[in-house]
Amino acid sequence: MLRFVALAEIAPDRVEQLLDRAFGSDRHGRTAYSIRAGTDPIPALSFAALDGEALVGTIQCWPVALIHDDGRRTAMVMVGPVAVDPPRQQHGIGHALMGHMLDAARDTGNDAALMLIGDPEYYGRFFAFSAERTGGWRLPGPVERRRLLARGAGVPAAPGRLGPDDGAAAPAQPLASRTTP
Ligand SMILES: CC(C)(COP(=O)(O)OP(=O)(O)OC[C@H]1O[C@@H](n2cnc3c(N)ncnc32)[C@H](O)[C@@H]1OP(=O)(O)O)[C@@H](O)C(=O)NCCC(=O)NCCS
Repeated sequence: MLRFVALAEIAPDRVEQLLDRAFGSDRHGRTAYSIRAGTDPIPALSFAALDGEALVGTIQCWPVALIHDDGRRTAMVMVGPVAVDPPRQQHGIGHALMGHMLDAARDTGNDAALMLIGDPEYYGRFFAFSAERTGGWRLPGPVERRRLLARGAGVPAAPGRLGPDDGAAAPAQPLASRTTP
C-alpha cells in the first residue's frame, strides 16, 4: 500500500538513484536544474512515495521567482522532478504524488503560482498546467516552450527572467505572496 513521507526522511542517495533511473544520470545539465540552482527543496511540498519500505516515487518543489522586466518580482513554486520508478510507472503513483503535493500546496497557501517543465500531455491533461502565460519568460538554458507550464491565479503573464528565489532581488517574502512592487 502506498504511503507518503516527507522527502527529508529518505536518505539522499536513495532519492538520487531513483531520479537517475527515471530521468537518466545526465539529468543535471537540464535547464530545470539551473532555474533553481542553489536553492533547497521546500520541505512542506516535497515527498517520497513508499510501498512497504520500497521507494517508488518522489516529488520535489523549489522556491523560484520571475524577475519582471519592470523590476517587480513574483515568487513561484517550481514543481519537479516528479519521478516514478520505471517498473512502477503507469499505475497511478505519479497522479498520487501530484495530488498529495497539490493538496499540501493548497493547505499551506502555496498554490497561487506553480510552474514546471514537463509534458503538457500529462501535466495539462490531468493537473491543469498550461503554457498560456509563460511565453514571455526567459530561462537560464534552452526549453521547449510548449513544455514550460504553470498553474494558479498568481502566475504572471509578464516578460521576465526566471531563476532561483534566493531573496537577493527583493526582501524575503512568504512563498504564498504574489507580485511585489
Ligand atoms: C511522468 C511520470 C511522473 C508519470 O507517473 P506515472 O505514475 O507513470 O503515471 P500515472 O499512473 O500517474 O498516469 C498514467 C497516465 O498518464 C499518462 N502519461 C504518463 N506519462 C506521460 C507523459 N510523459 N506524457 C503523456 N502522458 C503520460 C499515461 O498514458 C496514462 O494515461 P491513461 O490513464 O490515459 O492510460 C512517470 O512516468 C515518470 O517518472 N516518468 C519518468 C520521467 C519522465 O519521463 N518525465 C516526463 C514528464 S516530465
